[in-house]
Amino acid sequence: MTQDITVLDAPKELLRDGSNRRKVFIKTYGCQMNVYDSGRMSDALDRDGYDQTEDLGEADLVLINTCHIREKAAEKVYSQLGRLRDMKKAREAEGREFMIGVAGCVAQAEGEEILRRAPAVDVVIGPQTYHRLPEALKRAKSGERVIDTEYAIEDKFEHLPATGKATIRARGVTSFLTVQEGCDKFCTFCVVPYTRGAEVSRPLAQIVDEAQKLVDGGVREITLLGQNVNAWHGVDGAGREMTLGDLLYRLAEIPGLARLRYTTSHPRDMDDRLIAAHRDLRALMPYLHLPVQSGSDRILKAMNRRHTADDYVRLIGKIRDARPDIAISGDFIVGFPGETDADFEDTMKIVETVRYAQAYSFKYSTRPGTPGADLKDQVPEDVKAERLERLQALLIRQQHEFAEECVGREVDVLLEKPGRYDGQLIGRSPWLQSVIVDAKALQIGDIVKVRITGTGPNSLIAEVAQN
Ligand code: SAH
Ligand code: SF4
Ligand code: F3S
Repeated sequence: MTQDITVLDAPKELLRDGSNRRKVFIKTYGCQMNVYDSGRMSDALDRDGYDQTEDLGEADLVLINTCHIREKAAEKVYSQLGRLRDMKKAREAEGREFMIGVAGCVAQAEGEEILRRAPAVDVVIGPQTYHRLPEALKRAKSGERVIDTEYAIEDKFEHLPATGKATIRARGVTSFLTVQEGCDKFCTFCVVPYTRGAEVSRPLAQIVDEAQKLVDGGVREITLLGQNVNAWHGVDGAGREMTLGDLLYRLAEIPGLARLRYTTSHPRDMDDRLIAAHRDLRALMPYLHLPVQSGSDRILKAMNRRHTADDYVRLIGKIRDARPDIAISGDFIVGFPGETDADFEDTMKIVETVRYAQAYSFKYSTRPGTPGADLKDQVPEDVKAERLERLQALLIRQQHEFAEECVGREVDVLLEKPGRYDGQLIGRSPWLQSVIVDAKALQIGDIVKVRITGTGPNSLIAEVAQN
């Protein structure tokens, strides 16, 4: 279906009378791309007569933007849908409208199964078709139960840039900007290639335009998003091929855009141009999320990561040569099928070698439909739990060591939001740490040089540097 969307011709009588606008409650699970997408859905719904609410009690529409990456994440959706079904019954008894929509990766992966297991759901919509949400709701209101999980041929981004009214209201001085979606890597544990589809890059002009509009709206820091962001590619005005490094050089030219970040990257796509961007661009923050998953070559091979532990360590060395103060962050999976004690020790070793400033680590979760699910030698839960505990203790220690090393240093902080106490603002260091600043006479959006004076449980404490 390529016809244009219905969001622009929202019911006029609704929009003329503000008090008649409906309310949508959006709950977002999963990765930053889901956060970005929830913003886009909110924009589409805003034009369709819905205001976003944080209060479930006053919602006329509840949207759950779901994640399928691990079993627990997917199951959470069904327990939540059970509670919403009860709410819907109570509302309907009062004669009030209450609609339930399921979006995101569970919607894409399970489609019809959701309507079967949760009959109260009105709309199931996949990540590629959010621009059709208002139309799906319209159909649902006339009694249909709607599933739209096609990989749409039209470009959802063209219909849903991150510059709508709802986004502008919500977002503050930092913003996500999706530049790439989907994945062709097919790591054997991962559902993303199935839920988000094949790798697609947004065109350069569309990205530059959206970035410019965000900056015009007061954004000072943009984080480029993609399941495989450093696989982004495009062409410039002269028809020359571009990679993510080139895109960062281009975006760094936008006046007023003070900070750039990107996530998540795959080691195989860390090309020299991207590494050079870390060397050359002041706006590109010295922080890199580069998951390795495992330190064992045998397991990396079984995961289809297509690099060795040594390749990864050498790559990190090259990146640090280009940008010595870069903070490295990672993802790890323990208990992939066949992982022995020796394989796990290799993971501990690579963590010791790299020294991570920040990391996420997970027990392997079997995902139906992925090659990993069919492998023999699944690792028992208690072994996974024990390995995860040891790995996390090491990663947390490294994170604290990194924070301690910052004490006494002067760093630039972008102030993002008010702190808990009067006169305090909270911002981010270049290394993505949360920093609490005693900041009288400063405002949100300022970038200020501070001296780190101490560390808290999840943040750094700072005072404005005297110069
Ligand atoms: N595109 C990113 C990761 C996306 S998923 C990359 O290539 O690194 C985010 C993280 O979830 C992954 O890095 C991985 O560590 C974890 N993950 C993915 N599938 C998983 C599974 N089946 N079980 C446990 N963790 C998983
Ligand atoms: Fe999943 Fe691997 Fe693709 Fe990352 S690179 S999204 S882990 S398949
Ligand atoms: Fe989850 Fe889908 Fe993101 S599975 S991690 S929400 S791409």
